[in-house]
Amino acid sequence: MIKIAIFASGTGSNTKKVIEYFGNSPMAKVELVVSNKPSAGVLQIAKDWHIDTLIIEREQFYNGDHYINVLKEKIDFIVLAGFLWKIPSALIDAFPRKIINIHPALLPKYGGKNMFGNNVHEAVIASGDEVSGITIHYIDEHYDQGDIIFQAYTNVVRGESAAMLAKKIHALEHEHYPKVIESIVKQSFE
Ligand code: GRF
Repeated sequence: MIKIAIFASGTGSNTKKVIEYFGNSPMAKVELVVSNKPSAGVLQIAKDWHIDTLIIEREQFYNGDHYINVLKEKIDFIVLAGFLWKIPSALIDAFPRKIINIHPALLPKYGGKNMFGNNVHEAVIASGDEVSGITIHYIDEHYDQGDIIFQAYTNVVRGESAAMLAKKIHALEHEHYPKVIESIVKQSFE
């Protein structure tokens, strides 16, 4: 059984979908939810599913290695779902090609520091782009620059608000992220 850790700091709607999807999988399961925010909604979702949680502090995340050893013992693959801190090289080195992220726009556009949540959708709308979407990609040392695994698209309708666009993007994320994780995890351990 391949063990997945989800790193998330928000409400956790993607985390919930991923946990549900792997609920009956013979191949993989969500073993751990990691967050930097003790008040994050995602932690309640983990508790509801009796999944272990780990709260990580900034100092430990960037300068410690104890948590990396714990992760290496406990899990095989890392999925980011709304985790805003940049991933340190030590963690990338410990899980080479085994950390993926989902971004709510079509990278390489609209990526980088501070490009999260509504900032992204507002930038897409302000640009006049007629298409947006989601990008699932590997993590490397730079924000939102790792190799792209998968993209899906949605039209940006004239006059649409960032909130409306966010809703469509979330629907795309929920539809695709669990399936893409499944295929990448499968490939990574074949
Ligand atoms: C998603 O939109 C994802 O693209 C981004 O963070 C958001 C997390 O949303 N990386 P949720 O907490 O899963 O609802």
